[in-house]
Amino acid sequence: MDYKTYIAERLTVEGVGKEELREMIAVPPDTSLGDYALPCFRFAKLMRKSPALIAEELAAGYRTDGVVTAVSAVNGYLNFKIGRAGLFKAFWEDFTAAEQKCGYGSSDMGGGKTVCIDYSSVNIAKPFHIGHLSTTVLGGALYRIFRYLGYNVVGINHLGDYGTQFGKLISAYRRWGDREEVEKGGIHAINDLYVRFNSEATEEMEAEARENFRLIESGDREANELFNWFKSLTLDYVKTIYDRLHISFDSYLGESFYIDKIGPVVEKLKEKGLLTESRGAQVVDLEAYGMSPFIVLRSDGASLYATRDLAAAFYRKETYDFDKCLYVVAYQQNLHFKQLFKVIELMGEPWAKDLVHVAYGMVSLEDGAMSTRKGKVVWLEDVISRSVEKAAAILAEKNPDLAGRTDIAEQVGVGAVIFGALYNNKIKDIVFSYDKALNFDGETSVYVQYTCARAASVLAKLGGVPLYSGEEIDVNAREFELVKALSAFPDTVKEAAKNYEPSTVARWCVDTAQVFNKFYIDCRIVNAESETLRIFRKSLTHATLASLTAALALLGIEVPEKM
Ligand code: ARG
Repeated sequence: MDYKTYIAERLTVEGVGKEELREMIAVPPDTSLGDYALPCFRFAKLMRKSPALIAEELAAGYRTDGVVTAVSAVNGYLNFKIGRAGLFKAFWEDFTAAEQKCGYGSSDMGGGKTVCIDYSSVNIAKPFHIGHLSTTVLGGALYRIFRYLGYNVVGINHLGDYGTQFGKLISAYRRWGDREEVEKGGIHAINDLYVRFNSEATEEMEAEARENFRLIESGDREANELFNWFKSLTLDYVKTIYDRLHISFDSYLGESFYIDKIGPVVEKLKEKGLLTESRGAQVVDLEAYGMSPFIVLRSDGASLYATRDLAAAFYRKETYDFDKCLYVVAYQQNLHFKQLFKVIELMGEPWAKDLVHVAYGMVSLEDGAMSTRKGKVVWLEDVISRSVEKAAAILAEKNPDLAGRTDIAEQVGVGAVIFGALYNNKIKDIVFSYDKALNFDGETSVYVQYTCARAASVLAKLGGVPLYSGEEIDVNAREFELVKALSAFPDTVKEAAKNYEPSTVARWCVDTAQVFNKFYIDCRIVNAESETLRIFRKSLTHATLASLTAALALLGIEVPEKM
């Protein structure tokens, strides 16, 4: 059992449930007064007493024991001191029990409920650029975090595979394309054709492109063969990047899949009396909610991105009966999702409240913006490769004899890109810097990976020493900090899921690595003062390595055995 639960179970505040109490218990920034603290301000209204008095009364009524050894009331806070001796034992029981199952920090909280996560959602025949980094790695991390918590997760790549641009592409290909060249150049060749079409297109060519698009839609064989070819070239390409980032999907149903599912949804909108006409278009008026109209069908009867999202939401609800459906999409689409969710709510669907737009900020590079304007696109592939190259160079300098350096450079370089995108609160814009991301002493994945390698090398030296088996231990301050940091991991994972915020896990990794390194420097592990201490410290090191490895894995980052 973790300490927050332990404390909550032994506290009684009338009208406040145990779970709520548990959630209110926090780790104070300054632990000189206590290891955990419960702020009593929220109880004041309920109990008609001052927070200070409430804290004093609760302190007086709390029975201390070997786990919680002291309780005090200070300025409306109830502070708890955890007994160091009992502490590790309780942690170790939790840790080993979880290791027997799916790993420390895992849980069955999800109870098999389903979470759909729409992420990465690439556009066919368009560059896969640095702007796709966040959605891809955030979505991937959320996918693994929810799965770790016992949810059934469906990863969806809502492909951008519908629109007039594919008509343009066919025109461009027929004009200037060469089968072999495109086959060889893949997505880059396709993109070049597309860019060329846009810069050279005349009225006439535009009309031809529209006709080609119409041909795709009407099922014309040749047009669809070309389109499917472009699609598979794009997917083959992005999959190589997904492999490097350890990303996978359960569904690649794209926008085009929903075209024949739009009719019934439009019917439903009509039935509910939600459709109005506006300049020939069919829209849902959202003025009452302070939003512009949600356009369902254009005046020519064609659907829009939003319409296909509407049909997709219904399809997902019917197919997966999700508990939550997340859309990991940049904040630029805030309005789109607000409108979409509102329309579904107005249609009377109770699950509208389960749709969540997980918005995130922009990523740019230190040496230039990500702009797709002026054709200056930073391909994600190039960012990854450059990071891996730099990692290789750093490793060569730091550790010239390191075996398996190519693989390790990949793990370090890829990790740096992922961690760089996940370390900050997701809504913040970030400027990615290779040097910062690959700093061995920074708040970086490589710092955490290095700490893991260090722990692994200690463990290798302690091969024959057994793991802890329940002895009473006198825990020193460094060890104590480490046990506390490790005990916080399960809550950290839950917190990350609750707020759709993998950065919580990333920060925990850095904090815990820092605490471990202090322990490593101040406490002798291999040459511990006694056999009991050696066993204990080995066990702490083992738990640190296991937890950090699990945490990084949730983010999609691997841990090299040596560095
Ligand atoms: N392909 C879209 C874009 O690049 C993102 C799609 C996000 N998912 C969704 N269901 N709308 O903007």
